[in-house]
Amino acid sequence: MTAKANLPSASFPVRRMDFSFAQTAKYWFADDPFMSHFMNNLSSLFPYGEKFFVDSVRAVRDQVEDPQLKKDISAFIGQEAMHSKEHAAYNDYASEHGIDLERLELRIKVLLEGVTRITTRKQRLAATCALEHFTATMAEQLLQREDLTTQMNEPKLYQLWMWHAIEENEHKAVAYDVYQATGGGYFTRVVMMAISTVIFFGVIGWFQLHLLRKDRQLFNWRSWGKGLGMLFSLRNGFLTKLLLPYLDYYRPGFHPNDHDTRHLEQRWRQRLGFEGH
Ligand SMILES: [Fe+2]
Ligand SMILES: [Fe+2]
Repeated sequence: MTAKANLPSASFPVRRMDFSFAQTAKYWFADDPFMSHFMNNLSSLFPYGEKFFVDSVRAVRDQVEDPQLKKDISAFIGQEAMHSKEHAAYNDYASEHGIDLERLELRIKVLLEGVTRITTRKQRLAATCALEHFTATMAEQLLQREDLTTQMNEPKLYQLWMWHAIEENEHKAVAYDVYQATGGGYFTRVVMMAISTVIFFGVIGWFQLHLLRKDRQLFNWRSWGKGLGMLFSLRNGFLTKLLLPYLDYYRPGFHPNDHDTRHLEQRWRQRLGFEGH
């Protein structure tokens, strides 16, 4: 699409997706309960988590004057709304396997409504920047780690996660740029990162135990061993690898685009057939 004079188009597109998850396997990641539930766990956070991001950015969009950033805000909202919708569709489907992700979604809804009551707009935007840093760096891991992603043995779920991973990197700087453009400073940014980290990993730990218990896999030590190895191995654990980019967020002057992922995004857009978008 050609941009009209004086009206920039957004830096990235909103892709309309409509997955159907019927007949996907229960243990779709590495044929393993722990890892499949870890991904289910993340999926349960998205419908209301991404709504919280959208609300946080939307609440201050009137204060943004830069025309390019205004366009990118609209595209950011479009992408996150689509992620919420598609993860909700998957979460719905998981109930066919007796996995009640909607119940977890509602816990996130209640949690975030509570957070909204006791925080300022600026704090919520800073929390959004923090959590967007998590989603961007986790997504980058997915885009880089064929050793992990080739273990997704359901094509639709593979498409869902890789599409989402591309877009998290495409829009990773939007909330941050809005935060800076509306006068957000270092102190609130890093304090909200510290608080968000505790809440984020606390919730993930809680949900993981819940999902394993409900699925009668809580004492499946083999699966625990495999899953904890994939997440925390010193050399290439999925979460271990997040540590350095995580610490980088505390650097004064940090910006999400300091870490350039454009080639990686481009490679994956081609792989998923999104060329030209
Ligand atoms: Fe998202
Ligand atoms: Fe995002």
